[in-house]
Amino acid sequence: MALRQIVKFGEDILRKKSRPVTNFDERLWTLLDDMAETMRSKDGAGLAAVQVGVLRRAVVIDVHDEHGLIELINPEIISEEGTQTGGEGCLSAPNVWEEVQRPNIVTVKAQDRNGREFTLTGSALLARAFCHEIDHLDGILFIDHVKNDGIPGHSDVTSK
Ligand code: CO
Repeated sequence: MALRQIVKFGEDILRKKSRPVTNFDERLWTLLDDMAETMRSKDGAGLAAVQVGVLRRAVVIDVHDEHGLIELINPEIISEEGTQTGGEGCLSAPNVWEEVQRPNIVTVKAQDRNGREFTLTGSALLARAFCHEIDHLDGILFIDHVKNDGIPGHSDVTSK
């Protein structure tokens, strides 16, 4: 395993759409292992492959609940329920923290590292992590969900 460099807000790649994972091989497993190690080294709750410069639909999440480390390959949100509003940050923007509204219960369909399909339902922080990380796969950043409050310096970190 190895730590990978995290891409920061303002870099074009974060706005690109990631491609589906088609090969469930050694290369993917190394990527996933490296992503988990990189996320943990920064005390993050989630990391998408694009954040380490790989435009593939792969995500790791660990919100320190009973699920432990979750790997989502080619994930899709299949249902959402309720709303929650809370603080949210991103390893690609270490000093940005904003209130973001998200669904409170989210079910995802995804594949595991061997290509087997599964569904998983999360609430609260896990639901938030599902939404945040899956957004990354489509080039969407959490600040896109923040209503502009008109204060210069807020919510404009992507404009450079
Ligand atoms: Co993020």
